Amino acid sequence: MHDSSSAEKEKPFRLVKFFTFASLGVIFIGTMVLALLNTHWARTMQIKKSEDYALLLVENLNHQVFMQFIIPVALKFGKIQLRNPEQFERMDKIVRSTLHSFNVEMVNIYDMNHIISYSFDPEKVGRKNIGGAGYEKAVAGQPFSKLIQRGNFWQLFFGFPERSRIITFAPLRAEKPLSRISGPVLGVVEITQDLSDDYKAIFRFQIRVILTCTGVMGFLLLALIYVVKKGEGIIHQRNLERIKLKEQLEQARRLSAIGEMVAGISHEIRNPLGIIRSSAELLKKKMAHSEPENTIPDIIVEESTRLNHIITDFLDFARPKSPNLVPCRVEKILGKNLDFLAPQINDQGYEIHTRNREPLPEIMADADMLYQAFLNIFINAMQAMPGGGRIDVVMEAGNRDVAISFNDQGSGIPQEIADKLWDPFFTTKDSGTGLGLGIVKNIIESHRGAVEIINRTGKGARVSVRLPVEKEEQSQGA
Ligand SMILES: Nc1ncnc2c1ncn2[C@@H]1O[C@H](COP(=O)(O)OP(=O)(O)O)[C@@H](O)[C@H]1O
Ligand SMILES: [Mg+2]
Repeated sequence: MHDSSSAEKEKPFRLVKFFTFASLGVIFIGTMVLALLNTHWARTMQIKKSEDYALLLVENLNHQVFMQFIIPVALKFGKIQLRNPEQFERMDKIVRSTLHSFNVEMVNIYDMNHIISYSFDPEKVGRKNIGGAGYEKAVAGQPFSKLIQRGNFWQLFFGFPERSRIITFAPLRAEKPLSRISGPVLGVVEITQDLSDDYKAIFRFQIRVILTCTGVMGFLLLALIYVVKKGEGIIHQRNLERIKLKEQLEQARRLSAIGEMVAGISHEIRNPLGIIRSSAELLKKKMAHSEPENTIPDIIVEESTRLNHIITDFLDFARPKSPNLVPCRVEKILGKNLDFLAPQINDQGYEIHTRNREPLPEIMADADMLYQAFLNIFINAMQAMPGGGRIDVVMEAGNRDVAISFNDQGSGIPQEIADKLWDPFFTTKDSGTGLGLGIVKNIIESHRGAVEIINRTGKGARVSVRLPVEKEEQSQGA
């Protein structure tokens, strides 16, 4: 019963938990994908930008070459021939000064026959047909760019190649004075830009985004786990409380039914019992002269007294009173207990020592009820030491309560009955009612106190009672 109902209670929470974690996972994956897409866009933009940039450079170069090289050289030499060192140097100067500080790695200029006529690298001059498709497109008037990445498999896989370059082919055109570059194609410029640093910067940025995202998600996850753990704890606690409450309720219901019946019967028995007892006493007096040795009347008196005690126990248990709280002193109540027990203490070899470390404050309690509770505890202790023994009563004043412990040197409590002691009618004694501790518990709890019974380390048991000093505080609403 307990498992299934608690599982049912926890089920909706498990769903919440599942959805929370799942959504966290989805958010995390989403963020990762977004981060990756973002870097992808950043790269695409970077390439596009580099391409535009290269075209702008080419346009500028085109202008410079046309104005500062082709026209003056044609005028001076009559013919453009870059194999001529003077012309090459002039060209080199123009190209380098134009592209100076523009992060350009390599420039090749092809003529219309796909032969390199100028290059940053003089070795390349004169090489044929190495421009590929880019050259073909540019010579037809169409600029063309391609990205070249180099690195090992993993570097390429994760998008941080060792080296990234963008190569742009663009037509070199004759320039008309008014409409700028629009004349016939004269050749092709190939510009190589190194993007490695940009790529690495983007990669670093990506790593940072992912790390931040992972960090934030990790933190959220931890927070969530904490919240979930706490929630589970609370739910578990609630379930336990609910189960306990239910058990208590069932117990109370059962007991009240038994109690009503027992109380009714006990009450009915009490009157005839009283008559039996007083009759026996009368009989005893009458027989004192004729049959002084006859002990039957004594036995009747004794047993009816015992029966009366048992009935009183039943009634006390079945119809617990509510305490009439007045200021009283625990020492005084215990004193009364000792006075009452004095004959037994002396006859049967018991010693009862009371001690308090500090004077106890007055407490709000019902002295008669506490007397009854302490008496039950004393009787149990004495019954646990049939041959006599010592009982130590220790009193201490706490912050808002007083603690009284009764320490005996009896048999102690076997482990297997520890839970059952408080059950009504549980007894290990032949003539016990099993109601003593139940009454104690009722009385102490009706005073908003607590009672427990444990084994002492040496020998015997300790019953600890804790009672509040004050009445229930006004400030406590519930
Ligand atoms: N001081 C004690 N030492 C050992 N056992 C104890 C002590 N007090 C109570 N018990 C155990 O708890 C049981 C229940 O006690 P109680 O409710 O007073 O009923 P009863 O005394 O009629 O048996 C006793 O039968 C006994 O086994
Ligand atoms: Mg008892």
